[in-house]
Amino acid sequence: MSIIKLHDLYFKPFINKDQISTITKHLAERIKADLPKDEVPIFVGILNGCFLFAADFIREFKGNCEVSFVKLASYQGTSSTEKIKHLVGINEDLTGRTVIILEDIIDTGRTLQEIYNIFRDKNVKQLKVATLFFKPDVFRKELPIDYIGKNIEDKFIVGYGLDYDGLGRNYPAIYQLTPTPKMKNIVLFGPPGAGKGTQATFLKEMYNLVHISTGDVFRFNIKNQTELGLLAKKYMDEGNLVPDEVTINMLKAEVDKNADAHGFIFDGFPRTESQAKALDEFLAEKGEQINGMVALEVPEDLLVSRLLERGKTSGRPDDMDEIKIRNRFNEYNTKTAILQYYFETQEKYYGINGVGSIEDITQRIARVFDTL
Ligand code: IMP
Ligand code: MG
Repeated sequence: MSIIKLHDLYFKPFINKDQISTITKHLAERIKADLPKDEVPIFVGILNGCFLFAADFIREFKGNCEVSFVKLASYQGTSSTEKIKHLVGINEDLTGRTVIILEDIIDTGRTLQEIYNIFRDKNVKQLKVATLFFKPDVFRKELPIDYIGKNIEDKFIVGYGLDYDGLGRNYPAIYQLTPTPKMKNIVLFGPPGAGKGTQATFLKEMYNLVHISTGDVFRFNIKNQTELGLLAKKYMDEGNLVPDEVTINMLKAEVDKNADAHGFIFDGFPRTESQAKALDEFLAEKGEQINGMVALEVPEDLLVSRLLERGKTSGRPDDMDEIKIRNRFNEYNTKTAILQYYFETQEKYYGINGVGSIEDITQRIARVFDTL
C-alpha cells in the first residue's frame, strides 16, 4: 500500500483490509450475542459512507435480519457542518422492532443526534447504534453508542466507503490524512549496463538527492567483509539476485541513515515485486512515496558489449564473463522487468531512450524528473 492523493490532499495507509474485516466480524458477533434468541433485527445503514461496512457487516451477521437505509449528508470537504440534509428517509413500519443503526464513523455526533430524532417517534422496541469508527476526542453529545468497532484519533480518514469530497470511497482499506510529501523519490530502472549508475551521479547533483545503489552498498560490504557482505557475495558472484529480505533490510538502513534527504534515487532497487511492495510500504509509513520509475531502454546486444568493456576496468567479476552477464539479463527479464507493469498500473512508469551520449540521456531523464 502506498500513500494516495485525492483532490489536493494526501493520505497514508492506516487500517488495512484484514484489520477492518476482523473488526466487522467482532461487531457482528457481539450484536448477535446480545439479541434475544429469534429476534429479527432491522439494520439501518446510514448512507453514503456505510455502504461497504453495511455490506460486509450483514454478511457476517449469522441469523435472520432485515436491512434498510437512510441517507443523510453533513460533511463538506474535511469538516463536519451544522446542517444535516435528509436525502432518503425511512419508509418501513418500525413499531415494536429492534432497530440497529449501522454507521461508518461517528465524529462530532451531529449526525447521530439527527438519527435519534428520526427514530424517536417510530415506536421501536429498542434502538441501538453500531459504528465502525469513533473519534472520542471530538464527540460533543450525551448520546449512547452501543457498539464501537474501533476508536481512532481525530484525523480525517478516507477509504472503505468514506470519502473526501466524493473521492476515496472505493479503496478497500482506510487511509489517514498526511502532510504533502516532501521528498522526490525516484527508481532508476533498466537492465544491467543501461547506465543507471552513470546517470545517477549527475542527477543526484542536479536535484540534490541521495543516490542509493544496492550494488554499490553490497560491494562496499563485501570489500569490508561485513556479515552482510559475505552473505551477499555468494549470490552476486554467480550473477544471482541477493534474497529480498537481505536487500530490503539493507536498503531501509540506508534510507534511515539519510533521514534529512530531499529524496532518493534508487538504483538497482527494487528488483522484484516483493521488494517494490516493501519499499512502498516503508515509504508510506513515513508519509512519502515513489514519485516515478524512470527506465533506461537499451537493446541487449549493446548492453553486453558495454558490460564487457566496463569489466576490463571495473574489476567486477560479474562484468567479465559473458555467461554471467547473460544470466543477469535472464534474471532481469524473468524477475525484474515485470516491475514496469507494477509501476505502469500506478501511472508512474517513464521509459527513456538510453542510447546516445551521456549528456543527451541526462537531459532526457531530467525532463521527466522535472515533472515528478
Ligand atoms: P458527525 O455528524 O460529525 O458525527 O459526522 C458524521 C459523518 O461525517 C459521517 O457519517 C461521515 O460521513 C462524515 N465523517 C466524519 N469523520 C470523517 C472522516 O474522518 N472521514 C470521512 N468522513 C467523515
Ligand atoms: Mg456517514
